[in-house]
Amino acid sequence: MAKQEDDFKKVISHAKEYGYVFQSSEIYDGLSAVYDYAQNGAELKKNIREYWWKAMVQLNDNIVGLDAAIFMHPTTWKASGHVDAFSDPLIDNKDSNKRYRADVLVEDHVAKIEAKIEKEVKKAAKRFGDAFDKEQFLITNQRVVDYQEKVTTILKRLGKSLEEEDLADVKKLIEELEIACPMSGSKNWTDVKQFNLMFGTKLGASAETAMDLYLRPETAQGIFVNFLNVQKTSRMKIPFGIAQTGKAFRNEIVARQFIFRMREFEQMELQFFIKPGSQKEWYEKWKENRMKWHMSLGLGEDNYRFHDHEKLAHYADAATDIEFRFPFGFKELEGIHSRTDFDLTKHQEFSGKKLQYFDTEENKNYVPYVVETSIGLDRMFLAVFSNALQEEELENGTTRTVLKLPAVLAPTKAAIFPLVKKDGLPELAHEIIDDLKWDFNVIYDQKDAVGRRYRRQDANGTPFCITVDHQSLEDKTVTIRHRDTMEQQRVAISELKSIIHKEVDMKSWLMKM
Ligand code: GAP
Repeated sequence: MAKQEDDFKKVISHAKEYGYVFQSSEIYDGLSAVYDYAQNGAELKKNIREYWWKAMVQLNDNIVGLDAAIFMHPTTWKASGHVDAFSDPLIDNKDSNKRYRADVLVEDHVAKIEAKIEKEVKKAAKRFGDAFDKEQFLITNQRVVDYQEKVTTILKRLGKSLEEEDLADVKKLIEELEIACPMSGSKNWTDVKQFNLMFGTKLGASAETAMDLYLRPETAQGIFVNFLNVQKTSRMKIPFGIAQTGKAFRNEIVARQFIFRMREFEQMELQFFIKPGSQKEWYEKWKENRMKWHMSLGLGEDNYRFHDHEKLAHYADAATDIEFRFPFGFKELEGIHSRTDFDLTKHQEFSGKKLQYFDTEENKNYVPYVVETSIGLDRMFLAVFSNALQEEELENGTTRTVLKLPAVLAPTKAAIFPLVKKDGLPELAHEIIDDLKWDFNVIYDQKDAVGRRYRRQDANGTPFCITVDHQSLEDKTVTIRHRDTMEQQRVAISELKSIIHKEVDMKSWLMKM
């Protein structure tokens, strides 16, 4: 646990030191769970967004994009169920006065039991070596079976009490499991209460006439209310999708994990409209498709898993999370929901406007069903960034801090160094930059010895360093160094563009899907 915390602290301080993420309004002591993306963070975020947009919109001729407003008519949120049901079950510890999400307290307790299972598996794998059969071990080792049974029982009970809004039972469960406040160790809890997560604001000049609005808590509703407008103007036929990226706002109470849980964050969502009855098939297809997208970035197969929901949201008939191994354990990165016809039907009901599709093959009107994929851009940023940050022992006994970002996402693709600040080397380095900058983000660096410049770019996540030396003036060649292998090659300046392009081009990465 201490190692996890330590690793996470390193991620946060590295993000600040290298211009990726800053606390919002830091000079005023910051605003809790609100963050700003700095020069490198803004580029990384933009690249992740583009990688998603290309995969979802540009490469699918049956998906189109949308950029809906953050403000929406307040009835939207009545219809969607957010006014009545978008809340978290909260519990306070009476001794520490700290507030927690009751379901998260229980899930963290479960995570501790799962960690014990993982420990047993690791021990056994070491003991049995090549002969180890993990699947067999999981069903035959009594201790592991007991742990697994405990996990299932707890999650089933939590799911049931949340489903039935039996908050007294959620408290009872916390007490029975003897869960203590992580800050104080006290088990002195208040009752569990529901708390709505939407931020309210007002539209209009005078207090009497102002209209109560909400900042959208998800981008999805902007898609639903535009469903027919987009379908008609794009002449899309079912099955088809509408995708959008944009800000969402939630008054998160438990917001202690850096950019994992923020009050202002960005979502990348797809609503895929389908024929009623085909939702199971499309739900499976989108599960597979989204996992392939994640795999294409090469963050490690073992770092992902599906987690099917016990408790379904009010709009879903099936739901799963793609979880990622963050520095603090496996947590939700993306949600995939089979949303039925809930949203369109509700908007029809509340607006009095038909939101139906005329199916020419079937010669009838119907309200389409929807499969949704929804990923937090900031969470994806944290997954990519935390996975990339590594400390490597080198052969000469020193260590280097290196940010092994997928080259396709790296904010700066290459740094160009003149070996010395004279003899025409800076001029040639600038010439190279002036040519490369039309295709890639590149930077110039002449400060310190080349070795230190390499280290600086390693920590910054830059995949290539290009050094211009005296030989370059004579034969128009340079040294190119690869961040991950630290290998150096002598190449012609005229080849640089194609060498970099090969490694950072979105097409070759997305082709892996
Ligand atoms: N439209 C469906 C929806 O909003 P969700 O599971 O509440 O579903 C989808 O959110 C994704 O948005 C999550 O998987 C997560 O990546 C991201 N997300 C949700 N709340 C967040 C928060 N407070 N901070 C950062 N990302 C968040």
